[in-house]
Amino acid sequence: MTHVLLEKNGQVAIATVNRPNALNALNSAVLDDLNETLDAVAADEEIRVLVLTGAGEKAFVAGADIAEMSTLTKAEAEAFGKKGNDVFRKLETLPIPVIAAVNGYALGGGCELCMACDIRLCSDTAVFGQPETGLGITPGFGGTQRLARLIGAGMAKQMIYSGKNIKADEAYRLGLVNAVYPKEELMPAAQKLALSIASNAPIAVRACKQAINEGLDAPMDEAIVIEERLFGSCFETEDQREGMCAFLEKRKHEPYQNR
Ligand code: CAA
Repeated sequence: MTHVLLEKNGQVAIATVNRPNALNALNSAVLDDLNETLDAVAADEEIRVLVLTGAGEKAFVAGADIAEMSTLTKAEAEAFGKKGNDVFRKLETLPIPVIAAVNGYALGGGCELCMACDIRLCSDTAVFGQPETGLGITPGFGGTQRLARLIGAGMAKQMIYSGKNIKADEAYRLGLVNAVYPKEELMPAAQKLALSIASNAPIAVRACKQAINEGLDAPMDEAIVIEERLFGSCFETEDQREGMCAFLEKRKHEPYQNR
C-alpha cells in the first residue's frame, strides 16, 4: 500500500493518507488502500486506538479526486459514492476508537472522512468545508448525513448549500472538532489522547463505542437496552474484575489485558 501509511507504536496505530502532491485527494486507489488498512487494523488485536491524519504540510484530505470524478456517468458516480461510503462506514464501525488529527484542509470527502472518525482534533491551520455544490454535485461520502448529525441540520445546511469553508476556531465553536492545537502540537496531543484511551479497559471502550453508535440510530427505549446488554457483557471480563478489585483494595489496577 502506497497511498496509506500504517505505523504501529504498541497499542496505538497511526494511518496517514499519503498522496501529498494532490493534497491527499481520495481517488479509487486511495480508497482501496484505506479499506485494506482498516482491515489490517481490525485484525490486529494489539491495536487499541487508531489515529488518522494526512501527509504533507497543507492538507488532511482536500476531497474526493475531482479529476477522476469529472467524467463519471450517473451509474459510475453512484458506484463511486458507494465505494467511499462503504469504506467510511467501515471506519465508523471499526471496533476501536479512531481519532482524526486534522492537519490542514479537510474539504468535501476530507471533511466527510474526519466525520466518520470518533473524535476530531485539528491544527489551527485546518479548514473544513463541503464545497460540492460549487462543483455542481452533492457531498457524496456521507456529508449530508454526518454533518447534520454532528452540528445540527441548520448549520449543516448553511455550510453545504453555501459551500463556504470554515476555519478551525469556527469548527470548534460549532462542535465539529473537540480541540484546536498549534500545528506542531497536534500529533503529540492526538497520541496523548490515544494513549489515555488505550490505558482503559479495551473491551469496555469498544462496548462504549458500540453503545453510542448503535444507540444514536435507535429510539431511546431500544437504545438503553443496547447499553444494558453491553454493560452486562463487561461483567464477564477479567478487566472488570481487576478494575473493581483494585478500586476496593485502594491500589492502581494492573494493566488491562483485553480479556
Ligand atoms: N481532487 C483532485 N486534485 C486535487 C484536489 C481534489 N479534491 N484538491 C487538490 N488537488 C490537487 C490540485 O489539482 C493540485 O494539483 P497540481 O499541482 O497537479 O495542479 C494540487 O492538488 C495542489 O492543489 P492547489 O494547487 O489547488 O493548492 P492550493 O493551496 O492553491 O489550494 C485548495 C488548496 C484550496 C484545497 C484547493 O486545492 C482546492 O480547492 N481543492 C479542491 C477542494 C474541493 O473542492 N474538494 C471537494 C471535492 S468533491 C468531493 O469531495 C465529493 C465527495 O463528497 C465525495
